[in-house]
Amino acid sequence: MKRLGFSLLLGILMISQSVKADEGMWIPMLLEKYNIEEMQEMGFKLTAEDVYSINQSSMKDAVMIFGGGCTGELISDQGLLITNHHCGYGNIQKHSSLENDYLTDGFWAMSKKEELANPGLEVRFLVSMEDVTEAVLKDVTKNMTEKNRQILIDKNMNSLIESSGKDNDYEIRIKPFFHGNQYFMYFNKVYKDVRLVGAPPSAIGKFGGDTDNWMWPRHTGDFSLFRIYTAPDGSPAEYSELNVPMKPERHFPISLKGIETGDFTMVFGYPGSTEQYVPSYKIDMTMNVNNPVRIAMRTRILDVMKASMESDPLIRIQYATKAARVSNGWKKWIGENRGLKRLNAIERKQSEEAEFRAWAENGKYDGLIEIYETEYNALIPTERIMTAVVEALNGMELINLASSSRGLIQYSKNDAPEERIQTTVESLQSKAKGFYKDYHQETAKEITKTLIDYYMQEIDQAYWPESLLDIEKKGLDKSIDKMFKKSLLANEADFMDFLDGYKGKYKKLEKDPIYNLYQEFVQIYLSELSPTYNTHHAVIDSLDRVYMKAQMELRKDKIFYPDANFTLRVGYGQVDHYFPRDAVKYKYFTTLEGIMEKDNPEIYDYDVPDKLRNLYENKDFGQYADEDGQMHVCFIATNHTTGGNSGSPVIDAEGNLIGINFDRNWEGTMSDLMYDPEMCRNISLDMRYALFIVDKLAGATHLIDEMTILR
Ligand code: ARG
Ligand code: ASP
Repeated sequence: MKRLGFSLLLGILMISQSVKADEGMWIPMLLEKYNIEEMQEMGFKLTAEDVYSINQSSMKDAVMIFGGGCTGELISDQGLLITNHHCGYGNIQKHSSLENDYLTDGFWAMSKKEELANPGLEVRFLVSMEDVTEAVLKDVTKNMTEKNRQILIDKNMNSLIESSGKDNDYEIRIKPFFHGNQYFMYFNKVYKDVRLVGAPPSAIGKFGGDTDNWMWPRHTGDFSLFRIYTAPDGSPAEYSELNVPMKPERHFPISLKGIETGDFTMVFGYPGSTEQYVPSYKIDMTMNVNNPVRIAMRTRILDVMKASMESDPLIRIQYATKAARVSNGWKKWIGENRGLKRLNAIERKQSEEAEFRAWAENGKYDGLIEIYETEYNALIPTERIMTAVVEALNGMELINLASSSRGLIQYSKNDAPEERIQTTVESLQSKAKGFYKDYHQETAKEITKTLIDYYMQEIDQAYWPESLLDIEKKGLDKSIDKMFKKSLLANEADFMDFLDGYKGKYKKLEKDPIYNLYQEFVQIYLSELSPTYNTHHAVIDSLDRVYMKAQMELRKDKIFYPDANFTLRVGYGQVDHYFPRDAVKYKYFTTLEGIMEKDNPEIYDYDVPDKLRNLYENKDFGQYADEDGQMHVCFIATNHTTGGNSGSPVIDAEGNLIGINFDRNWEGTMSDLMYDPEMCRNISLDMRYALFIVDKLAGATHLIDEMTILR
């Protein structure tokens, strides 16, 4: 293949694309129109109505948004739900301490009484959706300025929400599709009493840790269990001891039958965001501006965190969630860049653009690509600095606390009523308490040093916060040491004391060197960067809308799927192996055998719990073993997924649950921008392994009993 010409290569890719319909994240309401025939050809045995219906209960009634960015699904008629371990991670961590280290040891409620409440955690079920394009775009005209257009759209949306919300207590959201060419309104039911039921030890739920993250072959038991509670009458309610387990109309039966290459699979969940229809310039900017800056800065953060976490078990708990978050993006962007390069993504987009230009010549879309070029060229220098500022602000954890302190300063300055100040102090106290639980001063200090160092090396002085000039003069180490010594925010006892007897002396906080650094960065952000950044992004957004529409006009025979936007979607494909590189074939499943191969008590990520080792040695797999006698752990398929799809049900041809989606393979992480059927795979946990852990490892058989299991 090496010497194949580019257009020939493109031809091959396009042919294989049309044979396997794996790409795409489809709208459940429109399956009947666009997809169901193909799904059934691929083996699906159910109807579109079975998946999504507003007239009868359907599969969608068992799928939910879990928390702020994951998917979950119901697996019993008592409100039991399953999602990923990494989706429940923050909540498991909140219940963890050195004494009760649920992160390390796992947690299993042996009765409903032992289930743990999670204030702030919500799940949302889609009740129905509606195309509201006409109403949202009412009175919008071609000649409007972008700004006026947006004002009108916002107004239309607000009145739509208001009039639709009158007769019900659903949460209503309107989301743009196809870059603002279409709008859908969503009615959700929100449940707020969601309790932790079970989580495997991290050595299972996060087995392989950040080392194996984004990779296949994978052996992570990435699941956790929660339960939804409702008011006694079944309606959604805030946490209360009087609440009862939810009685849902629908939950997924679980199939233990096993899977094979070519089997139909469907992923039903909430993909967060993709950019499939952008021009080459955007890909170029992602590959050569955003990703390199983010990767470089996060490499620095991770080096510091890793060393700290290895030095002390308490720091490991404190920084576990933070490190996972930082590492997750870092690794994805590295994989994404490699994938885009391998696909010649920029060149492919350019050749599409050449075709588009020829088609658009002298018509209403003439010159569109050229404006893109001008805009991206003008944007890039600012984009680069903006990326560095954002990474720096997110990376220095005290900045987060500084930003939460801003309100107190403002209220005090403006002589707000005493009561207002008191509640602000109280909420800051509670915020600070949570913050310091996971704060280690030395670690935070080293991260600050290395990020400031990067910034001073890479970013033009014109965009430096003033403090940096001083730091340059006096030396990085010395200055940051001093900053941390002097800062209220950096010292738990000082800050808590300050808040405890708060006497309105906001100036002390306002002059805090870390608060000050935060303010200076914000200043740069607002006055030096945002204006240029926003201007160009606004133009690009409107170009995206027009380009999207134009692409749909040019390729009339193609059925387009809208970019992901964290609304409920269906992806379908099949179980399949792949060839990651020359001479290497990756099978579609992994087994417990592979966990034992990786077993290494010396390495945190690969330290197999004794109990699991014993089950393995005794081949005590119960009803969960595959036909081949092995315990299958994970499998891959060709479903098009992205961030937010974590926890999504992976469903077989009969509509039964066979897996929980939790990741993609590294060779396929560019699928947010360009999907490659040869290389892109979603990674799922085999339900049989999850149940094996619940049953055999945890002995939580009461949970197995409430599930519907098909053998
Ligand atoms: N890569 C997966 C996703 O984007 C899993 C992330 C959590 N796991 C981790 N080791 N950080 O969410
Ligand atoms: N791991 C991702 C998530 O948490 C899924 C993905 O990006 O493939 O949603």
